[in-house]
Amino acid sequence: MIKANKHRIQTYIESLARFTATPGNGTTRLSYSKEDAAARRYIKQEMANLGLSVREDAVGNIYGKLEGALKNAPAVIIGSHFDSVPNGGSFDGPAGIIAGLEVAALFQEYGLEPQYPLEVIAMIEEEGSRFGGGVLGSRMIAGQITPADLYEMKDSIGLSAAAAMEKLGFNAADICSARRTGNDVKAFLELHIEQGPLLEEGAQDVGIVQMIVGMTEIRITVRGRSGHAGTTPMEGRADALAAAVSILNELPGIASDESDLPVLTVGKLDVLPNGANVIPNQVVFTVDIRSANSDTIKRILRKIDKLVADAERPGISLSIDELLYAEPVEMSANIQSLLIGNCEKLGLRYRKMVSGAGHDAMIFAGFTDTGLIFVPSKDGISHTPEEWTDYAQLQKGIEVAFETIVQLTEAKEKSSNTEM
Ligand code: GLV
Ligand code: MN
Ligand code: MN
Repeated sequence: MIKANKHRIQTYIESLARFTATPGNGTTRLSYSKEDAAARRYIKQEMANLGLSVREDAVGNIYGKLEGALKNAPAVIIGSHFDSVPNGGSFDGPAGIIAGLEVAALFQEYGLEPQYPLEVIAMIEEEGSRFGGGVLGSRMIAGQITPADLYEMKDSIGLSAAAAMEKLGFNAADICSARRTGNDVKAFLELHIEQGPLLEEGAQDVGIVQMIVGMTEIRITVRGRSGHAGTTPMEGRADALAAAVSILNELPGIASDESDLPVLTVGKLDVLPNGANVIPNQVVFTVDIRSANSDTIKRILRKIDKLVADAERPGISLSIDELLYAEPVEMSANIQSLLIGNCEKLGLRYRKMVSGAGHDAMIFAGFTDTGLIFVPSKDGISHTPEEWTDYAQLQKGIEVAFETIVQLTEAKEKSSNTEM
């Protein structure tokens, strides 16, 4: 049985964790930032060290490819994202890229030749921390984003995604060339930390994801009228924050009124101009809604539409933009059964589970056979500097990924090939 190299895995994780804008306070690596540029140099170098042919697509996703024996055959892709949330951890995203690097390292070390090409991928902007919405790298690969979208998406200082990527030498206008389809991708496998407590509570090594919940992110903008806090009478004010609060108060109840336990989060709120003695003229906030049932999400969205319409009054206008809409999606039954077989072969404890977090896998599942493996998160926490997965646990998950990639690529030992 081939063992993954725990020391190499630890080195990859610790090396990537150095590329943060907040040293000492977790990983903050926004897409196309200088930390992104440094992390991408490291990832490309490690891919090259493994003998992979390295390329970046037009929008900045990184690929390292091990050619297959079959010519012009569709690729098996393994990987995840290398952006982070503000003050996040070292594992959310990197664990999946490192799984890809380690699988490629094992192929090289043990002289395995894939029949179908093996590609390791490192994607940008899964979290949406810079441009909102999330899973942008994979949505660009899936052909869901146009150049115009990239000019419209703005970061907190108003720089567009197109302009930000151009600073690193990428080209929004050429986004079509980043497109992958079911014709050139045979399968996609992502390893990710669980980000919840179930595996640890159940003393299980591996989670085999059956489905990823549906999710949507909308942005609500409330526009009012500025004025002096001391001299403007209460009567007749158009206070954008007061109007926003009337909506914010109702939102949790809209979700908890549903019977199938959807979740709703307002995680980002900007008040403008944000002066203590100025009446707010604009409030912008996001609403993230998730459920395994797409009808529930649609019903919640309709209720929010009504709340927003009801908040209109003289001087106050509101608008809603949809930043992400993704239906609940099943992972490939074939890959799930390969994963189960491999857990059994390796003597690992596993459970099937639903992912409440979004992942690039949910976008790949729209066009190719896709699998998602979870490894335990210590104390179930994630998106914080304390996020942790034991390297021994990561090693076990990566060994499952390795066995599965061997099957999906139909890899053979090189020596047995030369005998043919
Ligand atoms: C990604 O971490 C998400 O689920 O929002
Ligand atoms: Mn995340
Ligand atoms: Mn992630």
